[in-house]
Amino acid sequence: MSPVVTLRTVDKIAELIIRPHADLSLQGRLRVPGDKSISHRALMLGAIASGETTIEGLLLGEDPRSTADCFRAMGAEISELNTEKVTVKGIGLGQLQEPQDILNAGNSGTTLRLMLGLLASHPGRFFSVTGDNSLRSRPMSRVIIPLTQMGAKIWGRKQNTLAPLAISGQQLKGIHYHSPIASAQVKSCILLAGLSATGETTVTEPALSRDHSERMLRAFGAKIQVDPATHSVTVSGQESPLKGQSVIVPGDISSAAFWLVAAAIVPGSDLVIENVGVNPTRTGVLEALEMMGADITLENQREVTGEPVADLHVRHSQLQACTIAGDVIPRLIDEIPILAVAAVFAKGTTIIKDAAELRVKESDRLTAMASELNRMGAKINELPDGLEIVGGTPLQGTAVSSYTDHRIAMSLAIAALNAPGMTAIGGAEAAAISYPNFVESLQYLCDD
Ligand code: S3P
Repeated sequence: MSPVVTLRTVDKIAELIIRPHADLSLQGRLRVPGDKSISHRALMLGAIASGETTIEGLLLGEDPRSTADCFRAMGAEISELNTEKVTVKGIGLGQLQEPQDILNAGNSGTTLRLMLGLLASHPGRFFSVTGDNSLRSRPMSRVIIPLTQMGAKIWGRKQNTLAPLAISGQQLKGIHYHSPIASAQVKSCILLAGLSATGETTVTEPALSRDHSERMLRAFGAKIQVDPATHSVTVSGQESPLKGQSVIVPGDISSAAFWLVAAAIVPGSDLVIENVGVNPTRTGVLEALEMMGADITLENQREVTGEPVADLHVRHSQLQACTIAGDVIPRLIDEIPILAVAAVFAKGTTIIKDAAELRVKESDRLTAMASELNRMGAKINELPDGLEIVGGTPLQGTAVSSYTDHRIAMSLAIAALNAPGMTAIGGAEAAAISYPNFVESLQYLCDD
């Protein structure tokens, strides 16, 4: 039988070809790479803590590499990145060195936005930061506005809204910021700035976003108070010496989501995804899939360095349409592209709303998913803040584009598993941002 999955790479540009056969089903056990959000935070907190931090299970994707390179350029000693054990020799809070060159966050919004909180709070030091084409078009005012209220001095293109940015570090003062959006990047940026600010810094969000920063800051010794009733977090500045820790990074639920949907839509499938982080601020995807009638059970639940972890067991089932909107959106924000794929194979019309944030991710993910799945035969209408997906129309393989966005590339690959004919995904190299061995895992499940 000819292989289901083939990768053609020319000059670092990859085309992923998928030709499913009629009796394809996905069976077995697999692991996904380390959580991207936790990997960034472990590297950053390790760099600004005193003493040594060790990190097991770090994601080796392009995004954490950008974080490691930026902090190395500011004096942190970070060993070569690997999944076994990375060592970070921290230089202490407020001790980042002025880098000799422009810091480059690559494709990574988390690197740029979180780092900005730290750079802005280094009095007397000057920093400049940039990123790739995508990152240079993503809004930075969401972090520049609160940092400026704290006393930061930041300049950028288009009236201080876009990178490249120039930062003149200042002594900041604590504020209470009511964020107009539920964004962990905004919250974390302000909390990191608050570590060195005078007084207390509080962030209140309209809905709860992922809380990895709060958990890890507390583990490193910061004084953090959380008020779940108002979605508020407070950090006490200048009295929180951070101490290096041992961090074990669980598998990324955002990466596991591709296999959850793959097994749900490909008949006969039965998969166990081991060692996945199931922090409640990230499990919206499990709730949405359960609402759609997916057969998912959590096995072997445990806690690993302050984060809940489980093995996810998923079996094929007929999915039903549902509505995904409101407070759950920040808890599944990165999984909406793959949930759109699930909805294409569900009975009925799925509505995704309150997700305008997807327009300012690595690509405009609403346009990307609607246009590429429609090319394959889906019936999706774009809404200003979401998607209306009429499920149940069979897909057909064709040429599609990743929009150089990792989550679009991988979501289309999963859709292709249930689309007869040949799907060719252009720009599939983007998957390496968060899932460097995605194609190998796909081959292992489809061809071995
Ligand atoms: C992240 C927060 C989310 C998410 C991103 C990672 C983080 O972004 O989309 O992939 O690690 O804090 P927003 O905070 O902008 O929603």
